[in-house]
Amino acid sequence: MIHNVRTDRFTGYEQTGLPAEDAELTHVGPGTPGGEYLRRFWHPIALESEVGDIALPLRVLGEDLVLFRAHEGAYGLLHRRCAHRGASLEYGKCEPRGLRCCYHGWLYAVDGELLEAPGEPPGTPLPGKVRQGAYPVEVDAGIVFAYLGPSAHRPAFPVYDTFGVPGTRRIPYVFDYPCNWLQVVENAMDPVHAVFLHTRNHGPSFSEAWGQLGVKEYHAVDEGFYYTNARRVDDNIWVRVHHVILPNMTQAGAVLSMDGRHTRYFGRPSFTRWVVPVDNENTRALAWANFGDRSDAQREEWMTPRMIEIIEGAEPRNRTPEEALRKPGDYEAFVGQGRITRHAKEHLATSDKGVAMFRRRLRDDIRALAEGRVPYRVSEHREAPVPTYAGDNVLRIPPAAGIADEALLLEVSREVARIIVSGDDLRGDPRDSFVRTALMALQTRHASGGRT
Ligand code: FES
Ligand SMILES: [Fe+2]
Repeated sequence: MIHNVRTDRFTGYEQTGLPAEDAELTHVGPGTPGGEYLRRFWHPIALESEVGDIALPLRVLGEDLVLFRAHEGAYGLLHRRCAHRGASLEYGKCEPRGLRCCYHGWLYAVDGELLEAPGEPPGTPLPGKVRQGAYPVEVDAGIVFAYLGPSAHRPAFPVYDTFGVPGTRRIPYVFDYPCNWLQVVENAMDPVHAVFLHTRNHGPSFSEAWGQLGVKEYHAVDEGFYYTNARRVDDNIWVRVHHVILPNMTQAGAVLSMDGRHTRYFGRPSFTRWVVPVDNENTRALAWANFGDRSDAQREEWMTPRMIEIIEGAEPRNRTPEEALRKPGDYEAFVGQGRITRHAKEHLATSDKGVAMFRRRLRDDIRALAEGRVPYRVSEHREAPVPTYAGDNVLRIPPAAGIADEALLLEVSREVARIIVSGDDLRGDPRDSFVRTALMALQTRHASGGRT
């Protein structure tokens, strides 16, 4: 018996329909609009530590591939089915010059050239005619990257400033998600989730200060977006900057150590991360966790696989189902949306501004490519190392008379962003000291009462 409830308010039955997938944004296979777009960029595909002395079967952007290291040292990334009669090259044998198919011994070089077809008569023309599908590979600090697009449109491998922050140790990691890549990547444009998922709902995964909604502002730039989130912590203003570089690279500030209580000028990211589609329903995040004085410190107890899982997803992975139910992290949030969440069933709200901006730009870029316009790729426009902005900035700026604190937070976060971006023409130490000096000067100006 139901008391005091109008039965016409129950709408479960009316909401059982499942709308179509947003294929334009979520499908990644060859020939799909989204897949073609993603193929115009370099992506990490595996950790070097995953590649042993046998071939590693991989799926990337819906393609079945094998990654291997020839004994002479070069990496090769080949289509998985042998060009002879389709045996899987995951059973191939690594040799000095390439990978030999298990079935009839055809030997392929890292660029797919057929070097030997040993069952054929001497002088066979096959090596000049047959090529195994292959992709170029680059390796940096323990991560293997590949370009799966058309050779004629291959951009230079992009090198970012965070690949070489002095005194920083980069520890590569990989994290698998059984869901579509967009659910994982767009979370980087959703600072609001950290307030609830990581702090208020189940107790803090990091410090209490993460439970403040803060004052957020989103900026569109050529390469993607950056945004600021400013919070008041006692007499400090903590401005956290996130940077999202299309299509799938994200960087954010410190995770394990950041509570906004200690000043920091031009902090650098605790991770440099790419969200790479395996296929429409599976995703790999490949990243470096960056440990150093300006991100999460190089403390032995932090540079562990368990703590790196917390950097990636707020909670460690290896938990009982009940533990995950009681204190979910990012993994549970993304995967819980389903293999491919249906955008037509969502109700985007004001707090989803970043997510909406990201999807809109992604859609525009996918459509632009379909019309023949090349997407913006940083290595074609910016001198390496490409400057990035993510990190924490904690300035000692107490609340001031005559201005509401929210307004002060917004004002300071805008000034911090302007300072960081205005160092773009500099590189290395000169950029660092330019930005840090300007941030300290900003703090001094506020301390002396002259706000701007
Ligand atoms: S199928 Fe690979 S050599 Fe025959
Ligand atoms: Fe998160």
